[in-house]
Amino acid sequence: MNDISNTEENNHPISPAEVGGRIFLIGFMGCGKTHWGKLLSHRLHIPFFDLDEKVKEKEGKSINDIFAQNGEEYFRLAEKETLYMLTESHDDFVMACGGGTPCYFNNIDYMKKMGRVIWINCSTQSLYNRLVKERAKRPLIKNLTDEQLKAYIIKKLAGRRIYYQQASVILNEDDLTLDNLLHQLSLS
Ligand code: S3P
Repeated sequence: MNDISNTEENNHPISPAEVGGRIFLIGFMGCGKTHWGKLLSHRLHIPFFDLDEKVKEKEGKSINDIFAQNGEEYFRLAEKETLYMLTESHDDFVMACGGGTPCYFNNIDYMKKMGRVIWINCSTQSLYNRLVKERAKRPLIKNLTDEQLKAYIIKKLAGRRIYYQQASVILNEDDLTLDNLLHQLSLS
């Protein structure tokens, strides 16, 4: 993964004015939305929001506890409310959305209307490699065995692809660098 101190990338000539506005990063759990979102916001000098973190702040509890105590439907509503609240109160930001954010309540249409949407498209194998080590904080997968996790990723990704592929920019993990992200944004 790239480091924000990478000088080659910091010297990239594209200015924030060209690629600013509201930038939504979408993609499956474990695809690197938070990592790339932080790098991008740092490079563009605009705020970074992690939507899950903001939902946690709003509800005063972890995502696991929201799912366990209030249910997924409640979480999806809180996620949508937080998405709208942050979007309507800021003109420039990079937001790392949750893996399910674009798949509920026409959120994908809303995000596309309000800004630019980038899908970080990762293979099921690399998602598995990451998620197998990072299950605990994710209520949808925390109780799955390794085999079940693999099957879950394949099935869920197949169902979510129709939302993810509506993004204005689609970046495959193999082409993912900060430079390329900025370049694709400037073209979108
Ligand atoms: C979810 C992804 C999570 C979080 C919640 C549900 C999903 O976010 O919003 O656990 O439905 O894919 P990350 O993609 O940041 O893990």
